[in-house]
Amino acid sequence: MSSQTIVAMVTGASSGMGADFCRQLAGRCDRIIAVARRGDRLQALADELADQVEVYTVAADLNTVEGVTRALEALRQRGPLDYLVNNAGFSTYGLFADLDIQGQRDMVGLHVDATISLCRAAIPFMRERGGGHIINVSSIGAFLPGRGLAVYGATKAFLNFYSLALQAELEGTGIAVQALCPGYTHTEFHQALQGFDKGQVPAQMWMESAEVVAASLAALDSGKVLVVPGEGNLELARTGVRRQLEGL
Ligand SMILES: NC(=O)c1ccc[n+]([C@@H]2O[C@H](COP(=O)([O-])OP(=O)(O)OC[C@H]3O[C@@H](n4cnc5c(N)ncnc54)[C@H](OP(=O)(O)O)[C@@H]3O)[C@@H](O)[C@H]2O)c1
Repeated sequence: MSSQTIVAMVTGASSGMGADFCRQLAGRCDRIIAVARRGDRLQALADELADQVEVYTVAADLNTVEGVTRALEALRQRGPLDYLVNNAGFSTYGLFADLDIQGQRDMVGLHVDATISLCRAAIPFMRERGGGHIINVSSIGAFLPGRGLAVYGATKAFLNFYSLALQAELEGTGIAVQALCPGYTHTEFHQALQGFDKGQVPAQMWMESAEVVAASLAALDSGKVLVVPGEGNLELARTGVRRQLEGL
């Protein structure tokens, strides 16, 4: 493979922001490694983008050892990566003590374990190449601990903390790390949130997935690690941080 080949890996590429990351990275890349469980959706995306970029699909459940191994193999065989987008995610909604523990463990597995495994595999190649981009898709929920989303918010707070520390460790390598912290975004995410009524959230609080992804990519070389798209979301995040500081 020529060292000029620009490669991205996007997890959770079968819908929502992951699919939009693929669409918007298509112009910057020669190859996109698209990972998710629904292989048919990945294939449809590959067909959609066929005249812009090569999409290599990896149908894998990143909550399993086999799935992570498949993604790591693709990273090593089809890379090295210039862009790693750790986007795959989901949430449950409800009081922690009432929720099935497996779903909570799966959130930690997907948001935390899979993310650090892929970063650990990608970074040495990026360092060798003299640069790269890592986007860890977090959430505004990382700034707003509250009822119903305890483990979800905690995994996203992990991603923020981890991304900030990783960027500090990678200073001078040319690798940019971002924790993207979207607010309410129109995707398939809320379909799985039992007990959550989208209609309760004012329309002006919602953003389009493509808009959030565009804000992420626009901020990529800005030196900013925590990226909160949307002025209203930024204000909410700042309020959340102030409340935490006031509790000290
Ligand atoms: N939408 C929002 O309001 C919002 C707000 C803040 C943060 N976020 C974050 O944004 C990210 C993307 O979510 P989205 O909003 O675009 O929702 P989405 O449309 O539901 O997309 C989630 C993606 O994650 C993949 N995924 C889920 N479990 C997986 C697993 N075990 N293994 C591999 N892939 C898996 C799904 O693919 P398969 O089902 O095909 O596996 C899908 O492609 C998530 O990390 C989410 O926490 C969303």
